[in-house]
Amino acid sequence: MGIILKSNREILKMRAAGRVVCAVLDTLEAACVPGVTTRDLNRIAERELAKANARSAFLGYRPGPVPAYPAVVCTSVNGVVVHGIPSDRVILREGDVVGIDFACFVDGYCADAARTIGVGIISAPARDLLDATRECLDRAIAQCFVGRRLGDVGAAVERHAESRGYSVVRDFVGHGIGRAMHEPPNVPNYGMEGTGMRLKAGMVIAIEPMLNAGKPDVRLLSDGWTVVTGDGALSAHVEHTVAITQEGPIVLTAA
Ligand code: MF3
Ligand code: CO
Repeated sequence: MGIILKSNREILKMRAAGRVVCAVLDTLEAACVPGVTTRDLNRIAERELAKANARSAFLGYRPGPVPAYPAVVCTSVNGVVVHGIPSDRVILREGDVVGIDFACFVDGYCADAARTIGVGIISAPARDLLDATRECLDRAIAQCFVGRRLGDVGAAVERHAESRGYSVVRDFVGHGIGRAMHEPPNVPNYGMEGTGMRLKAGMVIAIEPMLNAGKPDVRLLSDGWTVVTGDGALSAHVEHTVAITQEGPIVLTAA
């Protein structure tokens, strides 16, 4: 299947979905305080979805012979890289870092974003990892001009992560997005400048760098979803849905 280019009208619909995603993440971010469970975060996200008349892109999602995803948000604490399942037994504590990943459909179009939040006061190394991960996403977005290539996007993430002393997770990648949460192309967080598909006006992609403080290797837990660092070191993940236009990138999931 090829790349599905979006019209300006479709990009506006995705912007509407992106505004909902951003508002829900704002609410979740404010709720990331000591004592809150990740299940509480899921309940908050369910309530916000209902208020916005939006449909979860995660609940029941089943990308193959795996259990359907059972929640509306992914909550990935400390050494969990991505796809942590909200639980009553996971209580946020001061110093934790929690990745919150949320996507929804509004009027048939999807937007997808993630942030990694520090709970209370976090250590200097944890803060540095969060800052570096965010910088990688900014540098990737800065490559999102017509005529640049997917390899330029990946290389921007990889180069910055490694210059800051972190490793890039290779087992998961960003993706095209539109009427479905996952469309072609894959958007890796590594690559070589000047290689890969050229970006075209009307492409919409979700860019989602995952950085590990230790080695890049990850492991899947027996629940079929939770992805953890192989060495137990801290990990961070951020994501935005970005439209490529003749006028430059539009971050659809920003405020
Ligand atoms: N934002 C993630 C992605 O782009 C989360 C999807 S996993 C799900 O793949 F099961 F929760 F949907
Ligand atoms: Co995504």
